[in-house]
Amino acid sequence: MKIGKLCGPKMEVLKRGAALGGIVLGAGVLSAGCSGAAEETRDSIRIGVSLYRGDDTFINNIRQELEKCAKTWEQETGLKVILDIEEAKGSQYTQNNQVERFIALGCDALCINPVDRTAASAVIDKAMAENVPVVFFNRQPVEEDMNRWDQLYYVAASAKESAVLQGQIVADSYREDPSVLDADGDGVISYVLLEGESSHQDSLIRTEWSIQTLKDAGLPIERITGGIANWERSQASALMEQWLAQYPDTIELVICNNDDMALGAIDAMERADVLGIQVVGIDGTTPGIAAVESGRMMGTVSSDKEAYAQAIFTIAADKALGRPVEDDIDLENGKYYNCPQQIVKIE
Ligand code: BGC
Repeated sequence: MKIGKLCGPKMEVLKRGAALGGIVLGAGVLSAGCSGAAEETRDSIRIGVSLYRGDDTFINNIRQELEKCAKTWEQETGLKVILDIEEAKGSQYTQNNQVERFIALGCDALCINPVDRTAASAVIDKAMAENVPVVFFNRQPVEEDMNRWDQLYYVAASAKESAVLQGQIVADSYREDPSVLDADGDGVISYVLLEGESSHQDSLIRTEWSIQTLKDAGLPIERITGGIANWERSQASALMEQWLAQYPDTIELVICNNDDMALGAIDAMERADVLGIQVVGIDGTTPGIAAVESGRMMGTVSSDKEAYAQAIFTIAADKALGRPVEDDIDLENGKYYNCPQQIVKIE
C-alpha cells in the first residue's frame, strides 16, 4: 500500500542551523533581557511550559518535539535550557498557579497551551507584571487579549487550512471512484460528523470548512447526524456505537475534527463488525498515521509537528535571550505563526 503526501498551500521548512549560523554563542552570552535593562552574562535559559492536559495525543506529539528542539538548541548554542513542563489537567486554576510558579522560579519565557482560551487574561496579567514573554499555542486566546502586549505570540496549525485539505481528501477520492464513498449507490454520500470541544476555535472552523469544501466540490452529501466528542477517542467511540445501532446500513462517511475521534469511530466499527465506512481525521498523530498506513482510515491532514514545536521553542528562546524573533519564523502581524500541513492518504 502506498501512502501519498500532498503539500498544503503553505509548505515551508524551518532551518534552525542556518538561522543560528550567524550567531556566535559560547560559554556565555550577552543578553539585554526582555526589558532591555541591564546586560547580563548567561549560560542557560529557563522556559516554563504548561499543557492544558497531559493525556491529549496531539499535544503529546508536540511535547515530544519540543523536548527534541531543546536538546538540539543546547548542542547548537552551547547554552543550557531548563524546560519545565507541567500539565494543567484541564483546570485553568491549576494552570494559573503553574504560571505563578514558573515566574517565581525565574523563567525567561513561557509557552502556554491554555485550558480556557477565553481566560488567558490572568496568565497575561502575571506575565506582563514580571515582563516574561508568552508563546501561546494550539488553543487561541481571543484577539483582544493577544493585542494587550507586544510580547505575546501564538503558534498553531490553521484550522481552515486543515479543514479544506480534509475536504480535498474526500473530494479527490469521490472523483476517482464514487462507489468508495457512496457504498449503497443511491447517489448520495451519507455522513456523520464528530466534533471537538465546542469552545475550541478548531472545532467550529474545521466543521464549517470541511463541509463547505465538499459542497464547493459539488459532492452530493447528506448529514445523518453529528455530535461533540471533545477530541476524545472513547467519547467518539461511544457516539459512533450509538449511531451504528440507530442508523444501520446508512452511514458511508465519518468526518472527524481530529485523529483521536476518528480512531474512536473505527474502534466502534470494529466492535460492531461493520466494514466499508470511510473515516477522515486531522492532526497526523502517530496512531492516526498508523491507521492510514494500515488502511483503517481513508486519510488525515498532518500538521508539521517539528515546525510547530520549532516555532514555539525558537520564539521562546529568542525572547528568553531578549532578542527579536528570528526572520525564518514567518510571523503574521508580528505574533501569529501557522505551521505547514499536508495530506496523508492512501493512494
Ligand atoms: C487537535 C486535537 C487536540 C486539541 C487540543 C486540536 O487542534 O486537533 O487533536 O485534542 O487541539 O487542544
